[in-house]
Amino acid sequence: MERSKVVFTKDQIQQRVKELGALISKDYQNEEVVLVCNLKGAFIFLADLCRYIAAPIAIDFIATTSYKGTATSGNVRIIKDLKMDIRGEKILIVEDIIDTGYTLEYIINYLKLHKPKEVKVVTLLDKRCRRLIEIPIAYIGYEVKDKFLIGYGLDYNEKYRELNYIAELGVE
Ligand code: IMP
Ligand code: MG
Repeated sequence: MERSKVVFTKDQIQQRVKELGALISKDYQNEEVVLVCNLKGAFIFLADLCRYIAAPIAIDFIATTSYKGTATSGNVRIIKDLKMDIRGEKILIVEDIIDTGYTLEYIINYLKLHKPKEVKVVTLLDKRCRRLIEIPIAYIGYEVKDKFLIGYGLDYNEKYRELNYIAELGVE
């Protein structure tokens, strides 16, 4: 692999995801929540998080694209739509990382067209310093600096998603 510096270890991530699961379980109690995972980056976070939630859940996936290499653009597109009918449902969008906020804004607006009861967001990582659109985020794993991160679902040109830790690309 190219040079990289570990930012969050496997154990740190598992501990934090467990804590997020406990917070979510407490907030939803016995109410059903639909976890909408934004592919591809959030798939590993979703897989761990959903097993730490002690509330009734349903799971669906949406896929968006906007990224080329490490440069972002506001051109978000949906490339895989929901399968469920989410009308009247409580939705929790599961994101890997929020950068400018364009992707999330687009997904929230799109989901709202389907008239859910509520839309909230959980993200593992929040690159708050890069935010261009302010969006309330109900649950945040870690706030991170403006560095390009890989691992635990996050990719660089589709590589490194399988790492069980998160690292900064190109740094030793
Ligand atoms: P936004 O639309 O600018 O908020 O970008 C959010 C999306 O960009 C995330 O869902 C990721 O797929 C991707 N992204 C942003 N920062 C990183 C990073 O550091 N590593 C890998 N992907 C990233
Ligand atoms: Mg993503």
